[in-house]
Amino acid sequence: SSLPPHPKVDVVSRTPPYHKLIKRLHEVRRVLGSACQLTLAEKILYSHIEHPEESLLTNTRNGANIRGTANLKLKPDRVAMQDASAQMALLQFMSCGLPSTAVPASIHCDHMIVGEKGADTDLPASIAGNKEVFDFLESAAKKYGIEFWPPGAGIIHQTVLENYSAPGLMMLGTDSHTPNAGGLGAIAIGVGGADAVDALVDAPWELKAPKILGVRLEGELNGWASPKDVILKLAGQLTVRGGTGFIIEYFGPGVDTLSCTGMATICNMGAEVGATTSLFPFSSSHVPYLEATHRGQIAQAAAAVASAPSAQNLLQADPEAEFDDIITINLSTLEPHINGPFTPDFSTPLSKFSSVVEQNNWPKTFGAGLIGSCTNSSYQDMTRAEDLVKQASDAGLTPKASFFITPGSEQIRATLERDSTLSTFSSAGGTVLANACGPCIGQWKRTDGVEKGESNAIFTSYNRNFRGRNDGNPATMNFLASPELVTALSYAGSTTFNPLTDTIPTPSGTPFRFSPPKGSDLPTAGFAEGNPEFLPTPGIPDPSVEVKVDPSSTRLALLDPFPRFPETELTDIRVLYKVKGQCTTDTISAAGPWLKYKGHLPNISENTLIGAVNAATGEVNVAYDVDGKKSGIPQLAKQWRDEGVEWLVVAEHNYGEGSAREHAALQPRYLGGRIILAKSFARIHETNLKKQGVVPLTFANESDYDLIDACDEVSTVGLLDVLRSGGKGDVELVVKKRDGTEVRVKTRHTLSEDQCGFVLAGSALNLLAMRGKE
Ligand code: F3S
Repeated sequence: SSLPPHPKVDVVSRTPPYHKLIKRLHEVRRVLGSACQLTLAEKILYSHIEHPEESLLTNTRNGANIRGTANLKLKPDRVAMQDASAQMALLQFMSCGLPSTAVPASIHCDHMIVGEKGADTDLPASIAGNKEVFDFLESAAKKYGIEFWPPGAGIIHQTVLENYSAPGLMMLGTDSHTPNAGGLGAIAIGVGGADAVDALVDAPWELKAPKILGVRLEGELNGWASPKDVILKLAGQLTVRGGTGFIIEYFGPGVDTLSCTGMATICNMGAEVGATTSLFPFSSSHVPYLEATHRGQIAQAAAAVASAPSAQNLLQADPEAEFDDIITINLSTLEPHINGPFTPDFSTPLSKFSSVVEQNNWPKTFGAGLIGSCTNSSYQDMTRAEDLVKQASDAGLTPKASFFITPGSEQIRATLERDSTLSTFSSAGGTVLANACGPCIGQWKRTDGVEKGESNAIFTSYNRNFRGRNDGNPATMNFLASPELVTALSYAGSTTFNPLTDTIPTPSGTPFRFSPPKGSDLPTAGFAEGNPEFLPTPGIPDPSVEVKVDPSSTRLALLDPFPRFPETELTDIRVLYKVKGQCTTDTISAAGPWLKYKGHLPNISENTLIGAVNAATGEVNVAYDVDGKKSGIPQLAKQWRDEGVEWLVVAEHNYGEGSAREHAALQPRYLGGRIILAKSFARIHETNLKKQGVVPLTFANESDYDLIDACDEVSTVGLLDVLRSGGKGDVELVVKKRDGTEVRVKTRHTLSEDQCGFVLAGSALNLLAMRGKE
């Protein structure tokens, strides 16, 4: 039954603006022509376009030319941020000088909490170790009206599903598994902090219109098969790159047989195939889930929208909508799958797994089974796992592998505690970890004596399994499976065990075989509230709050606005480094131990380009000053900046490939970089550079890369005109060689009118701050 709105829950701010979105959908149809048929993903996405006419200029029936071509300028409804990525997002937001965020937003403290002995000891220790970061996030949240979920409240994606996701919503999240919210019918996209800031300051967020992959579900899951197996199988089919540039839209008669949380699991792992996002249509299990999470009003509003005739129906695809491709999965015959090790797309059906273990010589035993996390900690997941634990306990068995349980939120933890599920796990020897990422993001202090470098296996119900992901040991083979399978396998401790066919000997000697797991989608007694201290702060701005950043902190530093572009051409800026070969965002801003400085631009800038190969010498991170003195790249950059010399980097193809990491653009800018001159750029990084006021130029003739060297002095011709004219014309570089000769290098750029404004103002945020003051 529907629970009344929680007194602390602002249902209004959590209801998608259906009226406005339907009006925009009309406008979109007017631009595209009334015969145009749209998929559900397109309806939701396009109804969030700021000016549909401008964005959808390539006007064709069925939107055929829009997909993959049109640049959509979108206005998302909401932003969610996790603690690690929220730091730089907030620091950038603060530099705009706005009193509050333009859209509702939330912060979730989950990534910095270590899993070791259990929640009671792990949580206080992690809070103490990260106090200054949590204090900063909380004070900034209070000042700017962001809901702050403290450490222990839960994992971002589970909390978002329970509180914010809704059919038809569009949200950005600073975490790659943000698409989890698509299980409840939202378009939810994982982005970097600078992109989140676009939405927070009411600037349009740009996205190339994705293609749409339809996944038709038929039949109904039964026995051991679970929603996780849908995405494990699909990952095997699509591979880790197969979803790139696509939204995955599920449809077909099988959809209505799935639980809401099961659909979220499927969408969560769409990130593993590189999809922009994944989503399910508004379906029968959404209503009871929304009602059980105090959002019956949203269920009613969504149901009304979903029953409108198709032209106005925001929540169902048009009947003749076309997908770019369709994959069909029959749930009735779906077998459980196990994916891994080391990559989520190495997918093996359970019945073949033992022979694949033999063929590959993988370990026959494994040390730990871990269930839960943002991917699989629903009431359904946990009660099905509980059923198996009870069966095994009744037979006198205990798990052979260490068994860990990570609840996704305080709400689910408290409910499982009330319903004795957690005590069933603990009595069987399981360890219940904090409601946080813990082992899923490598925050796992393993205490079972496995040495670093020692080959071993673990099974998890998580979503990622790159080398070292869980325990920092690159030799740990990490297999992904449903929580049910991980639980059953933990009792055997054997990688070749198949619970459907194999037995385990009991202490009395009789063989024990599991029956297929049974559970409930939702708790019959409703969700328990849990510890009230884990409820969020209200999303009401309080200008009197002072944001806490200790000036002597090594982990946090306020950002100073970057200087404006001069009123002249750039003259005699110097080539800091000529990079040879690949230069990824990792090369430009390394991760690992540097992650703790994500909120401290000066400190993290000490890693700038330290992975880059010197084109002249083949050395890595070795730069030479004009007098021949050897130096690290960041050290020379800083020295030149302090001497008043601005600089540029020369590079080869696909500069900045990899992630959306904004630090890779912020750091060169902070250290005095003005131009990156490359053979080509990775698209997202090129945009990030422009946002931070760095000019990306490409060689008009690639071979000119050979004409320019480190320490050459470069002056621009035409750059100021390009910037002042909103992107018209080209830029030529006059290169003064060390021997006094001069060469001219023609370049190309992709600066749009908006982006010229960013560069002139010093950065996109400077421009926004200026506009805010006008
Ligand atoms: Fe990421 Fe945390 Fe989930 S690390 S994968 S959000 S559990």
